[in-house]
Amino acid sequence: MTKAPNSREGKSSGRGQRDLRVRVKTAKGRKLSSKLWLERQLNDPYVVRAKREGYRGRAAFKILELDDKYRFLVPGARVVDLGCAPGGWCQVAVGRVNALGEKSGKAVGKVLGIDLQEVDPIAGADIHQLDFLSDGADGRVKDWLGGPADVVMSDMAAASSGHKGTDHLRIVALVEAAAAFAFDVLEPGGTFVAKVLAGGAETEMQAMLKRNFDKVANVKPPASRSDSSEKFVVATGFRGRHAVDLDDDQPG
Ligand SMILES: C[S@@+](CC[C@H](N)C(=O)[O-])C[C@H]1O[C@@H](n2cnc3c(N)ncnc32)[C@H](O)[C@@H]1O
Repeated sequence: MTKAPNSREGKSSGRGQRDLRVRVKTAKGRKLSSKLWLERQLNDPYVVRAKREGYRGRAAFKILELDDKYRFLVPGARVVDLGCAPGGWCQVAVGRVNALGEKSGKAVGKVLGIDLQEVDPIAGADIHQLDFLSDGADGRVKDWLGGPADVVMSDMAAASSGHKGTDHLRIVALVEAAAAFAFDVLEPGGTFVAKVLAGGAETEMQAMLKRNFDKVANVKPPASRSDSSEKFVVATGFRGRHAVDLDDDQPG
C-alpha cells in the first residue's frame, strides 16, 4: 500500500532558515521517479494555487498568462479547446469569454472542449469526447459551436515514446494537424494557440503559420516549467480560409 506523503515542513536547513519543501519518503512499491514526481507536485506553487483557486490542473495558469499578454479570450468569443482534459483551460475560457453570462452588459461567449478522454462536466462549457483527427471532426465542431470559432487553442501532447527526438516530431505533426483543423473552423481574424516543443523540426510549421496569420509569437509563460522544452505559439489575425497556404514551397 502507498504510504501518505511524509511532510517535514518546518525542518531547519541548518543555516538558520526553515526548509519549507515537502519531502516524500520512498515507500515500498513506490519507484524513485514517482517519489520525485510527487515531491515536485507538492512543492510546485502553481499546483498549490490550482488547488486553492479550484482549477483542475496547473495548466490553467499557462493559458491565463498567455491571455493576459495577448487578450484573445474576450467576452463573446467562441472558443474551441482541442485536447481539453481534465479541463483547466476550459475553466479559464468560460470565465474570460463570459460563457455563463455572469458579466452583465458584456457579450456572452461559447466554449467547446474536445478530448479523446471523457471529461467531467464544466459549467458553461460544451464538452465532447472526440478525436480531432477523425473524419468530419471539423464539421461536427462547427455544428456544436453554431458557426466558426474566434479562437482555437491546443494543449495537446502525443503520448511520450521516451525518445526526445521522436516525441518532438510527434508533437510537431500534432500541431500541424491542429493548425489545419483551425484553418477549417476559424473566423478570419481569429487566433490559434498551441503547445509545441522547442527543437529542430518546427521551422516549416512556423513558416506555415506566418503565411496564414498576421502575427506569430513564440512564448514560454512563467507557469511552463523551466526544465521542459515546452513553449506556445500564439498566432493572431487569421487571414481566412481562402488564403490558406499549407505548402512551404509556395511563395507566401
Ligand atoms: C496536457 S492535456 C491538456 C490539459 C488541458 N489543457 C487542461 O488544462 O486541463 C493534453 C490532452 O490532449 C488530448 N489529446 C491528445 N491527442 C488528441 C486527439 N487526437 N484528439 C483529442 N484530444 C487529444 C489528451 O487526451 C490529453 O487529455
